[in-house]
Amino acid sequence: MTGVLEGMLAAQLALRDGLHAVGLTPLVAGQPQWPFAHRLAAEMMWIDPGHARRVAISGLFVVLAVFLLLATLFRVGWKARLGLVSSAAAALIFAPGPAEHLLWAEATPTSLHRNASDFSPANILRGQALFQQHCQQCHGADARGEGPQAHKLAMWPPNLAGGLLWKRLDGELFWHVRHGMRNARTGKETMPGISEISMTDADIWKVLDYLQANAAGQTLRSVGVWERPVRLPRFQMRCRNGGERSSASLSGQRLLIALPSDDRAAQAVEDPRWVSVVLGGAADAECAAQDDQLLPALALLLGDSEQGARGQQLLVDRDGWLRARSKPGLSAWSVDDLICRTESGGAKPSTSANEQGIDALLRRMDGDPVRLVRAGFPH
Ligand code: HEC
Repeated sequence: MTGVLEGMLAAQLALRDGLHAVGLTPLVAGQPQWPFAHRLAAEMMWIDPGHARRVAISGLFVVLAVFLLLATLFRVGWKARLGLVSSAAAALIFAPGPAEHLLWAEATPTSLHRNASDFSPANILRGQALFQQHCQQCHGADARGEGPQAHKLAMWPPNLAGGLLWKRLDGELFWHVRHGMRNARTGKETMPGISEISMTDADIWKVLDYLQANAAGQTLRSVGVWERPVRLPRFQMRCRNGGERSSASLSGQRLLIALPSDDRAAQAVEDPRWVSVVLGGAADAECAAQDDQLLPALALLLGDSEQGARGQQLLVDRDGWLRARSKPGLSAWSVDDLICRTESGGAKPSTSANEQGIDALLRRMDGDPVRLVRAGFPH
């Protein structure tokens, strides 16, 4: 299933890039335009496997019909040709035909755009400042939709601190922020767009970085887990072996991030099972990050104040997703610290009695990789 949806996204991206490469479509905000009014809708397929199966089978029938029609180009007799054409027609008629309104979603010229920002602490915090300046009056300081102006609007702003952002493609959020939104029936503006003078394209991506970080923190605070995978922000650090490097260069390894703490005993434990990174850390740490904006950015992701985030430790999996958190004062890691997991839970927890605490946690983390899904498309 995941493969089919991935394929659908890849095929649309290939079509978009192909049309641009042959000069049929322009760049919009630095990336090739999606020129159609619709795109394939993946969200329904993600939710409803029956619908997904019908789409996949129909796709196969269409491919079959195309092959049959191509076969008529060979030197075959008219009878054979008639047979091929009628088989092709039959394939199209008997394709299970998924409900059309579930197959297509409305698209914008930037629907397939990727967020051009790097989810760095600086960009997340710059996005926060821009949000406070231009958006907070309607959307509220925590983006839950209860800003001071909200009650005067024809439509109450939605809660941007929950799952809504993940139901949309990044590029569609970008378009809505830039050009505003309208009521589908009356055509009346529901949210104003923002001019390029107030916010550049790069600024909009930063605000979207911030909204994502904020939504992650708010869900963690209200439900106790990160319901959607959250990436470790990208930052620079200095490591004992290897000097100055980017956090992204350590992908493939587990990381333990130790937020600053006044308690000496709570410093990051060095361990062969992970690379330990200490924030503002001592010069002798395995890796130390001196980025002043990292603590406030991580606090945002944790839904906590900077003070509250102090002393917490985070485990990052080999794909760069933030997975587990331990709070100061708690002695040992356990599977309960896994606050980003899939619904199925992946590999069954070990029954062996001698595998507990951190071993069980790491096993769960590795055996249960998470995927980011946006608008039904796995990314
Ligand atoms: C005048 C009040 C107002 C301002 C200012 C405003 N918004 Fe909105 N916003 C709304 C309303 C109302 C909606 C719901 C619109 C709808 O669904 O038709 C909305 C919807 C959204 C959505 C959801 C889009 C979607 O795809 O459903 C996002 C994201 C968003 N706003 C971000 C922003 C950002 C970022 C800014 C600042 C640059 C901003 N808004 C400024 C009122 C506002």
